[in-house]
Amino acid sequence: MAKILVATEKPFAAIAVKGIREVVEQAGDELVLLEKYTEKAQLLDAVKDVDALIIRSDKVDKEVLDAAQQLKIVVRAGAGYDNVDLDAATAHQVCVMNTPGQNSNAVAELAFGMMVMAVRNFYNGTSGTELKGKKLGIHAFGNVGRNVARIAQGFGMEVYAYDAFCPKEVIEEAGVKAVDSAEALYETCNIVSLHIPATAETKNSINAALVGKMPKGGILVNTARKEVINEAELIQLMEERTDLKYLTDIMPAANDEFTAKFAGRYFSTPKKMGAQTAEANINAGIAAAHQIEGFLKEGIEKFRVNK
Ligand code: 3PG
Repeated sequence: MAKILVATEKPFAAIAVKGIREVVEQAGDELVLLEKYTEKAQLLDAVKDVDALIIRSDKVDKEVLDAAQQLKIVVRAGAGYDNVDLDAATAHQVCVMNTPGQNSNAVAELAFGMMVMAVRNFYNGTSGTELKGKKLGIHAFGNVGRNVARIAQGFGMEVYAYDAFCPKEVIEEAGVKAVDSAEALYETCNIVSLHIPATAETKNSINAALVGKMPKGGILVNTARKEVINEAELIQLMEERTDLKYLTDIMPAANDEFTAKFAGRYFSTPKKMGAQTAEANINAGIAAAHQIEGFLKEGIEKFRVNK
């Protein structure tokens, strides 16, 4: 009997945990939970005797992997796996997977929640604008970006996208205008919605030179990762360009400075909320449980990210 741990500092909805438990127990395995933990020591203790681990943005580094002597697989229930040390996992012969697409509609919907909030002047009672007819730039056309495009079309927006890795034809098949560079996207669009992962190449890449290209009244929405923003440059730019707004689901390291300086132009959720819906938790959590059972029982490695 394998022991599977769900370790979530930010827990799944109870209904998702119930679904994960059903998958695990039907496969004859045991499910254990470590939810809302506050100290890394709790995680280090909980992983000691488990065969498999389901996480969200929880950090799995070398120390965690060293402590998890029985561990065979970690599934990040979600898209971005920048929270897992892939080299250390490979060195420990631990398979790492994500669950691509399972929470992407939830994240896309939150991006629109933020867009409406921005164009309605943070609900301060003054006349804002509508999204209809505005140019939306989608920065990276993965699962979230595609959902953003679909919803934007419903709003009647003019939709553009840039993705260094996605063929232009794929973007255009979705009824979206593909542009040739990130610069062209920011230059063209009233609102840019970020959907790039945090990698060595993308960290700090959203800088003043790029955001500064946005037309007057530009709005930047970040439901991706805080690390992709060059915070010092964005602060300086927003001081110079008092027309720009920044809304984020991932609180910047410099949140206090953003809050103090940009009242009415800056918003951050207190805790990352993009994937916090029952549907997204059910989809990603249950997919993670199936992927673990498929790996443990049949050696299926689909969605492995440390090949
Ligand atoms: C993801 O990468 O899937 C999203 O950022 C959601 O992250 P979360 O599970 O920590 O909310």
